[in-house]
Amino acid sequence: MSDIFDPIPIENKYTSGVYYKRDVAIVRGKGTKVWDSHGKEYIDCVAGQGVANLGHCHPRVVSAINEQSQKLLTCTEIFFNDTRARLLEKLAGVLPSGLNKVYLCNSGAESVEAAIKFARLATGKKEIIATMRGFHGRTMGALSATWEKRYRQPFFPLIPEVQHVPYDKIEKITTAISENTAAVLVEVVQGEGGVRPGSREYLSHLRQLCDEKGCLLIFDEVQTGFGRTGQWFACQHHGISPDILTMGKAIAGGVPMGAVAMGERVVNLKPGTHGSTFGGNPLACAASLAALGAYEDENLIRRSLELGEYAREKIKNINHRFIREVRGLGLMIGIELKTKATPYLRALMQHGVLALPAGPTVLRLLPPLIISKEELDQVVSVIEKVLNEEKNGG
Ligand SMILES: Cc1ncc(COP(=O)(O)O)c(C=O)c1O
Repeated sequence: MSDIFDPIPIENKYTSGVYYKRDVAIVRGKGTKVWDSHGKEYIDCVAGQGVANLGHCHPRVVSAINEQSQKLLTCTEIFFNDTRARLLEKLAGVLPSGLNKVYLCNSGAESVEAAIKFARLATGKKEIIATMRGFHGRTMGALSATWEKRYRQPFFPLIPEVQHVPYDKIEKITTAISENTAAVLVEVVQGEGGVRPGSREYLSHLRQLCDEKGCLLIFDEVQTGFGRTGQWFACQHHGISPDILTMGKAIAGGVPMGAVAMGERVVNLKPGTHGSTFGGNPLACAASLAALGAYEDENLIRRSLELGEYAREKIKNINHRFIREVRGLGLMIGIELKTKATPYLRALMQHGVLALPAGPTVLRLLPPLIISKEELDQVVSVIEKVLNEEKNGG
């Protein structure tokens, strides 16, 4: 009998049951690699669903957490705080132009939730226009804007006056916006919906339409933020600023945090209109401050752009009959297959590469931005190998 501690049966006994779980326990991570409870090593292109842009346990984040944890762990936003102030100033320096105010929270869905509330407060209107295949989180407001029916339907009634229009289609959104629209909420690159970059033409049309109709433009950059696409934020590829930008995932180097950045049209945020016990806590702020410093000093934003291009080219060159399309921006990579993605995800894992789905037929890679060319080469060659394996249908 092995004396290795096996977390799987215990988790299976007590866990909620709401996740599709893979049959593996990850117990350690360093840089681009994670290890399971049997000591097997993986290149991690899941990265905590796009959280570990700096890789795992980045030394700068670890030491910031250590230091802050000995000074002050919790400090509600009813008080000012030195670490929070430093973070807000640093974050303001990398945000798209025109976004000068920030609300801090604890997750991506929370940031979307706040964005919807702020848009309603600022405009006095109710209607939100979101997109087909869009994903914005699982809390009731964010879920209302999420497209996938099987996520939403069991929880009806959701918040009213949310409509979904096709993504990246100018005509549909033009006819959908009315004088009752509070905000248009879109991802700049749809993530869960299949890694689909919005075109510049579409995004700038949205900007123009929202200006004309007096409603707010919300970009959900929870997944695309913090260098994932090769800019601090994906909208900076196009020089288009929203009125509200939502953030999460990689904002704090692996520590839970979310944030909402806002421009001058977001008015009426008076004391008491929103809030969160843990929002702006010094531990997350210290981690985020360290993470932003690391993105900058290690040139990771530019690296993501270059390596993303490199990886997509290599994957296209596999030229396999099962690959329908290779999409993405920076190190946000989607490989649309002509067949189901799940057997390939499983096979990749067996060969030491962790990857994600994005809908039923898309393999999604969200590697840490610190990944080396050699590791990317290895990931691509494993993808080629599993596509060719007969048991997967190759
Ligand atoms: C674009 C987008 N928005 C919001 C969310 C929700 O974030 P969280 O899971 O932190 O609540 C996600 C999560 O995948 C996301 O990709």
